Amino acid sequence: MLRWTCSFDMFHQSSSFLQHLPYLDACFKETLRLHPPGPLLLPHRAVQTCEVMGYRIPRNTQVLVNMWAIARDSKIWDDPSSFKPERFINSKFDNKGKKFEYIPFGSGRRICAGEPLASGLFR
Ligand code: HEM
Repeated sequence: MLRWTCSFDMFHQSSSFLQHLPYLDACFKETLRLHPPGPLLLPHRAVQTCEVMGYRIPRNTQVLVNMWAIARDSKIWDDPSSFKPERFINSKFDNKGKKFEYIPFGSGRRICAGEPLASGLFR
């Protein structure tokens, strides 16, 4: 119990320090862009027939989102294969899945439930 309390306390303290370490935060994001632990996210299924970017997705289709390819798309990212944390300084991208160009934790209602914990511990 004592060990858990200390770890939790340290986690909270390090989280508050992180707000003042934007380059470290950018390194974390850039690492997840180039080497996402879930390159295809988790399999999803279309609950109803829908259309995405002109493609008809029939009901019950299993959908895999290739986050790895999106994160290395040269139409979105400058010099996509290079490790450049600077691209995340003052950028519109965060880990909350609001911009589909950068979704290492997924997006929407099934976004990674452990994102706040992972983001805090990883850094
Ligand atoms: C760097 C670390 C992590 C990454 C990159 C990551 C990434 C992901 C991704 C991509 C998904 C699928 C989201 C989707 O398909 O839309 C997911 C789901 C999930 N993750 Fe993580 N994850 C991480 C750490 C964690 C941790 C530490 C926990 C728990 C403590 C966790 C718990 C979950 C759960 C419960 C789901 C399923 C959510 C749902 O389907 O409703 N993850 N994660």
